Amino acid sequence: MHHSLAKTIADVDPEIAELIAAEERRQRDSVRLIASENYVSGAVLAATGSVLTNKYSEGYPGKRYYEGQKYIDRVEQLCVDRAKALFGVDHANAQPYSGSPANLAVYFAFCKPGDTIMGMGLPAGGHLTHGWNVSITGTYFRSVQYGVRRDTQRIDMDEVRELARKEKPKLMYCGGTAIPRTIDFAVFGEIAREVGALLCADIAHIAGLIAAGAHPSPVAVADVVSTTTHKTLRGPRGGRSTKRPPPSSRPTRIRSSRMRRCSRRRSSSAASRSSPVAPTITLSSPI
Ligand SMILES: Cc1ncc(COP(=O)(O)O)c(C=O)c1O
Repeated sequence: MHHSLAKTIADVDPEIAELIAAEERRQRDSVRLIASENYVSGAVLAATGSVLTNKYSEGYPGKRYYEGQKYIDRVEQLCVDRAKALFGVDHANAQPYSGSPANLAVYFAFCKPGDTIMGMGLPAGGHLTHGWNVSITGTYFRSVQYGVRRDTQRIDMDEVRELARKEKPKLMYCGGTAIPRTIDFAVFGEIAREVGALLCADIAHIAGLIAAGAHPSPVAVADVVSTTTHKTLRGPRGGRSTKRPPPSSRPTRIRSSRMRRCSRRRSSSAASRSSPVAPTITLSSPI
């Protein structure tokens, strides 16, 4: 081991070491009721504190911008394969740093600024990135928001259907941050198909329940499924997921802008023709 790796945080920066220790005590000694948070295992902590942090790896396995990717490619591929197996999807993208950038990638893939999007309002239990006005998603797009019924406190599916028929969103979001009830993905799928919208199911909070079979999966009805990896999945910070769209006329590619630029430049090459990444499941690192 290189001598610099043997040094502890306390050796290098005692002030930060003390703050980390204090945070560890705080997490141990207090009850944490933030639904987005979880406690990772020692193995996850070790993996996120490993030499993998040193590596740049833009691109996709086998198609990178930098050298030295032989192990990183295997790590990413393993992560993709595990995500596909766990959620039963055709494609997985393991690259978003967390749920919000995962959702931004979905908008970037399918929408243009000014397009109408639809999601659950933040006060009703939706997430900021589902079109709430303080988020980039509520300012770059024309956002319409649905809520819950006052009498049942459940998602108002009548309102969802009416709004969708009236506003004809390009992209609809279902799923959210504070929805303590089963989400009826099938009805969302039905509404999206009726109005010709793409449906993204954000399962950030319930991914673990879905993986364990305790909540219905949106995979059969949603065009894209996004998630985080650090909530109920109890993995390291990261996340998003999409799956192959149904064989309709829907968009089929999610690619980063750099990949787009790169493939435009090399549009005649075989590499660009076979460039992957249709919708998927995205996890940031193996769990
Ligand atoms: C439903 C939902 N989607 C996306 C996110 C964004 O995740 P992150 O904070 O990891 O970017 C959250 C965060 O809590 C969320 O609840």
